[in-house]
Amino acid sequence: MDERRTEERAAELARSFLGWAGQLPAGVWAAPGRLNLIGEHTDYNDGFVLPFGIDRSAFVAARPRDDGRLKLWSRQLGQSEVALADVAPHALEGWVSYVAGAIWAAREAGARVSGLDLLLDSDVPLGAGLSSSAAIICATLLATADLFGLAGDRVTLAQLARRAEVEIAGVPVGVMDQIASMCAERDRALLLDCRSMSVTPIPFELEPAGLGVLVIDTRAPHQLAAGQYAARRAACQRAATALGEAALRDVTSEALEAARGTLDAEAFRRARHVVHEDARVLAAVSALRARDFAALGKLVSASHASLRDDFEVSVPQLDVAAEAAERAGALGARLVGGGFGGSVLALLPSERVPDAEREVTSAFAQRGFDAPVCFTAAPSRGARRLL
Ligand code: GLA
Repeated sequence: MDERRTEERAAELARSFLGWAGQLPAGVWAAPGRLNLIGEHTDYNDGFVLPFGIDRSAFVAARPRDDGRLKLWSRQLGQSEVALADVAPHALEGWVSYVAGAIWAAREAGARVSGLDLLLDSDVPLGAGLSSSAAIICATLLATADLFGLAGDRVTLAQLARRAEVEIAGVPVGVMDQIASMCAERDRALLLDCRSMSVTPIPFELEPAGLGVLVIDTRAPHQLAAGQYAARRAACQRAATALGEAALRDVTSEALEAARGTLDAEAFRRARHVVHEDARVLAAVSALRARDFAALGKLVSASHASLRDDFEVSVPQLDVAAEAAERAGALGARLVGGGFGGSVLALLPSERVPDAEREVTSAFAQRGFDAPVCFTAAPSRGARRLL
């Protein structure tokens, strides 16, 4: 979304807030969803990821209250009211746990929150693997930090946002999504070292290269995702421990091959994905710096194959979408996020975007899958105050 439309949207949200709360908001904030160019299931292995913020965001209009209550209205998800004192691990569910969790995390870090009226609107598709929850949390956290004077750099805020998701919403995620939403920059992907937490913006300029990123939201139901995510984490930890290392980040490809006989077959395959994926992220950074998009595309597709065959987090809809995009001329295509549903990212020459949409839609129809939703995305700015 361009800056002018974003500002219009913020002003419109402020007007709705006035109608709802009877006063203007103290401010309006936004935080984007994310796509991950490459580096999947590496963040909780202390490894490398290369995500970027997209041009779809969660917007939050907020105003302090002084009665210790949170009055929440999500345009997409409904209304709710909760006392600050009742926000605790395992106490809340659904979207309210994300919003209230963000405010809880700000309090944990020392913000003296007295209560909030908060109106939320988002155009990050839900359940598409684009971190709509991280966007909501990051926008709410930044609003709370600004309104109640919580200092902290973006990485610290992203780590707090992760605590909200893990401790209050109860989802055992890594830190990639929150870093992407908090720290994203226009025309940049972010190389994040998940051990040192250093963030390096890498130029990712699509337009001058004549390229586009197509998001294919497969709409595949992903009920299995939470349990399988925890199982993958456990297998990775099992492999690292068996290899005598703190995390798979410390394991080389040679050491892994040498230890093949000592690991169970499943742990070996999971570890092989992670070790090679870390190397692919660093190779992708070199490709981006050299503007070698053909090489980048190959790495992206290799990541998908590894997620499908070694990490086993793909589903037929994701495979069919990636293959159809490649048939239509994509330089590379892969599932993004945790897997078991969600979206495929395809990197392709801009003029091929309509062909890819057609190819994917017809492949889905042939297989009897629900129709996918396709849209293009551009690397965009991270969380910020708009009004
Ligand atoms: C989800 C999690 C991230 C990351 C990805 C897999 O999106 O929220 O922390 O682990 O899965 O790369």
